[in-house]
Amino acid sequence: MAEQTLFIVKPDAVQRNLIGEIISRFEKKGFKVMKLKMFNFTKKQAEEFYSVHKSKPFFNELVSFIISGRIVAAVIEGNNAIETTRLMIGSTKSFEAAPGSIRGDFGLGFTDNIIHASDSKQSFEKEVKVVFE
Ligand code: CMP
Repeated sequence: MAEQTLFIVKPDAVQRNLIGEIISRFEKKGFKVMKLKMFNFTKKQAEEFYSVHKSKPFFNELVSFIISGRIVAAVIEGNNAIETTRLMIGSTKSFEAAPGSIRGDFGLGFTDNIIHASDSKQSFEKEVKVVFE
């Protein structure tokens, strides 16, 4: 069943010229890129985007990192997009992510973990509003 999800190429990956490589993985997998945008989050937008983590001890670090440089957001569409994309990006801690996953192949960081992707339909609907509306 066709479904949409959103991912963000984070500042560390943009800085390292990995935008094309990352988008290409999703295209090669069979997803269609429906929306694409390069921009900087404002602090307010970032706080809204990550509001589920507001009470976490790493919230400030997370917001500072995501506003530290340009990012690229995409909405992609295809079968089982949300779950499949989460599989493709790998575990949150890049240093533990399986080889073959995006984090597993390109990073070692935790806050700076290359890519974000919506983890549920509810997150997708909220995140797409913050980024594209
Ligand atoms: P992301 O998929 O963007 O969703 C929330 C982000 O918070 C996560 O990737 C990490 O970058 C970051 N994160 C989660 N847990 C921690 C933590 N314990 N310390 C620092 N950053 C974290």
